[in-house]
Order: sequence, then structure tokens, then C-alpha cells
Amino acid sequence: MKKILLFGDPGIDDAIAIMYCLLHPELDLVGVVTGYGNVTEEQARDNTAFLLSLAGREDIPIIGGAKGPFSGEFVTYYPEIHGSDGLGPIKVPEDINPKVFGFQKAIDIINEYKNELTIVDTGRSTSLAMAFILAGDEVVNSVNSIFSMGGAFLYPGNITAVAEANYYGDPIASNLVLEKGRNVTIIPLNITNKAVVDQEMLQYIKENADNPFKNILDATLRYYDKAYEELIPGLAGPPVHDVLTLYAVIAPEQFVYVNRRVTIDTSEQSRGRTIADFRANPDEEPAETIDKIAFDFNYNEFKADFLKTMIRA
Ligand code: BDR
Ligand code: CA
Repeated sequence: MKKILLFGDPGIDDAIAIMYCLLHPELDLVGVVTGYGNVTEEQARDNTAFLLSLAGREDIPIIGGAKGPFSGEFVTYYPEIHGSDGLGPIKVPEDINPKVFGFQKAIDIINEYKNELTIVDTGRSTSLAMAFILAGDEVVNSVNSIFSMGGAFLYPGNITAVAEANYYGDPIASNLVLEKGRNVTIIPLNITNKAVVDQEMLQYIKENADNPFKNILDATLRYYDKAYEELIPGLAGPPVHDVLTLYAVIAPEQFVYVNRRVTIDTSEQSRGRTIADFRANPDEEPAETIDKIAFDFNYNEFKADFLKTMIRA
């Protein structure tokens, strides 16, 4: 089982990623660091706590992460895609009162599991960058691997013409994560946009899921489907960006990679743009700064695993 420390901003696809992680037999969720992004950090905590309580997994620590980017600027949230509280039409019951750990807990978890730990970041990069700064290089280097959902190597992006939301949100933090992180795999928008849940899959999950998430899963996916239909007409279904990122942890052989150093544009004009030297003979870069960029994946295998996991009891 892969031990996962998840940094996220649930948000519908992050929420489905949490459910997937809890249901998947090969994944062991050891902590969730909640951050701002799709919703406020406070809402991300409540949503995470609700999902963990549905699964009876209140033993998994929730750790309060960043409430805004390093620059200190105003944060924009995305109710039009994720609903006013981040779970589509679902409201977190009032009796959900999460116990939230201080940020040191994230460092403690990294120290505890070291090279057994996989870090998955499906939100803005600020919280993970904070962990890297506080933990120090030696501890960061001890982590087994890091999977980061972000970037758009093919235009358009989803938040500006050239940028994807997670790396746009805090490009300074994203640069820090990509610079300091070792064994980083980037799962960009170019492929996550193809990880869609079509009508047939929606129906299959509705009819077959028999687990604590079944109602919320159908409601959130249908809301997400409608939102994406308006956003990108003609798409076969809503893309579960963050779930694909977790799938890459358990099925790396189902992806095709290009290895390059990636930096994120911090300029005002093209903020959040992912930059990599894709020439056949790129300029030489220090080995430790090279990232694995996933450029393609086997959709049918992903689909089969996703459906099988989401209907698990
Ligand atoms: C990413 O941005 C968020 O809206 C999603 O949850 C995903 O992590 C896609 O650009
Ligand atoms: Ca996310």
C-alpha cells in the first residue's frame, strides 16, 4: 500500500480524489493538508472532515494549510464549478466539527514515514512549499516521491489563456516545490482534461456504488458535469484532474513521460504559464531539477480502475 499525504482544496474533484484514496485497496491515506483554492481553507477543512466521517476514518489527521498565496494577494474562489461550499449541492452537516492539527503535524508525518511516503498535491502549491521550507532539504529529500497536479503545456489553460489554476494560484510556491522537490511527477491539464467521467460512467456509479459515499458521489459528479458542460461545451464529461494524479501513483506504467526542468512564469502578463525546454537537445540542467511530466496515459485502464474503485463497499 502506498502511504499518501494529500495536499488539496476540496472542491469536487479533490473530494472525489479523497473518496478514491479511501476506497482504493492500494492507497493508504495518512493525512490531508487543507488549503485555499477552489474554496476557502476553512471550507476545505469542513469538506474533508465530512468525507472522513462518512468513511468512519476520523483517525486520519486533517492539517490546516495555507489560506492564501505567498504574495498575500486577494484569493478568488470557484463556486461556479464546485458549488458555493465546494461539494456541488451538498452542504456539510452542522454537527461536523473537525479537529484540525497545526501545520507542524505535516512535518511530523513526513519525518515519520520518510521514504515510505508519497506526497500528492492537488491544490495550490503554497502549503507544500511551506512544508518544504519548514522541514528543510534533508527531510524533503527523504520523501519517496511527489505527484503534483498542475500546469498546462498545451494552450489553452483553464484559468487564463496560458495558465492552469493550481500553478496560477501561487506561482512562487510552485517554483519552490518544483525546484526543491526530488522525484516530482507533474500531471498537467493537457492530460487531466482527458480524464473524463462520461454519462455511462455516471450511470454505472449511480447503479452500482454501495458505499458510504454513494449519494454524495452521484450528486457532486452530476453538478460537476453540468458546470463543465457550460464551461467547455462538447466535452465528453467532467474531468477528474485530481483523481488522475492519484492514479499515477499506483499505475505509473500507464503514463508516458517527458523529463524536463519545469519553471513557472511569475510575470504579470503570463503568470502561471509552465515553461520547459522541449527542444530535441535541450540546454543541460542539474539532474536534481529535472521533473517527470506526464504527457499521455491509457484512458481505458484509468476508467476501469476508477469505476472499480468507486463502487467498492
Ligand atoms: C485543478 O484546479 C482545481 O480547480 C481542480 O481541483 C484541480 O486541482 C485543475 O486545474
Ligand atoms: Ca484541486
